[in-house]
Amino acid sequence: TWTMVNIVEEQIARIQTQIGAEGHAICGLSGGVDSAVAAAIVQRAIGERLTCVFVDHGLLRKGEAEQVERDFVAATGVDLHVVDAQQRFLDALAGVSDPEEKRKIIGREFIRVFEAAEAEVLGAAAAEGAKVAFLVQGTLYPDVVESGGGAGTSNIKSHHNVGGLPEDLEFELVEPLRTLFKDEVRLVGEQLGLPAEIVWRQPFPGPGLGIRIIGEVTRERLDILRDADAIAREELTRAGLDRDIWQMPVVLLADVRSVGVQGDGRTYGHPVVIRPVTSEDAMTADWARLPYDVLERISTRITNEVAEVNRVTLDVTSKPPGTIEWE
Ligand code: XMP
Repeated sequence: TWTMVNIVEEQIARIQTQIGAEGHAICGLSGGVDSAVAAAIVQRAIGERLTCVFVDHGLLRKGEAEQVERDFVAATGVDLHVVDAQQRFLDALAGVSDPEEKRKIIGREFIRVFEAAEAEVLGAAAAEGAKVAFLVQGTLYPDVVESGGGAGTSNIKSHHNVGGLPEDLEFELVEPLRTLFKDEVRLVGEQLGLPAEIVWRQPFPGPGLGIRIIGEVTRERLDILRDADAIAREELTRAGLDRDIWQMPVVLLADVRSVGVQGDGRTYGHPVVIRPVTSEDAMTADWARLPYDVLERISTRITNEVAEVNRVTLDVTSKPPGTIEWE
């Protein structure tokens, strides 16, 4: 729409003023809509003086890394620095089943990997005399209000600790989405021609599939969950329900086995739980009354196509008392 064009043009001009003719900016991409739209706007403003960093921690769903590495780059022409950190995350998560412990490890490793990439990318700019490095963030208006933040930009001193960067290099935030709500961000994303899968992606937790495997996270379990999740999402989309459903986690009960029968033989596989919910803001949620025929297709396909899964169960718990995620 015309308003969205104005918003983009305004932000581009503002960012060009803020960053200046020489400044370098860096933006972490998560696979979600906010960071993608923020990066796309900044790319329009300063071109190749923006470097995007994508940490592939191996905890995304099927196709999501490719959406960033291939489709987002094709749509924007952005300069992308990919860090394949899959093995590092698996090593760090080995033997860990506790949900909070997993979250801490994933968060910690993410910061370490991102900061190493940051030091590499911005170290070069600093070596050429840059005094300020710009860090792009997809902060939305509700986040600004919630944190009581005022107008303008803030410096983030904590980033001085990033190893490999000069002590006196200052970081300044660039937040192109500070005045926008989520639905407006999606409109801007469409305006900028970003891939629909990114623009319309339902909420997905930062720790990713790591907190949808109940038990230890291993490569094999991630592959099982990715396959089951892809089928569930495909059937939801095919039924035209994507925009009615807030999100639909698929959870692998990796430490549980149940007996089944397939073909001539008994199986001893894992159950998955599907958790479709409706919600306005994720603070509360209701379990979604998916049509039986959609549930039937999800169940049949998962048990037919994912060898290790022999049972599909439905979570019919509201939030509260349940949370949306299982961990
Ligand atoms: P819960 O499970 O608390 O989730 O009902 C509420 C919403 O937050 C998402 N979620 C997260 N998002 N990092 C995130 O960025 C996280 O660690 C995280 N944990 C939960 C969840 O998917 C739901 O949309």
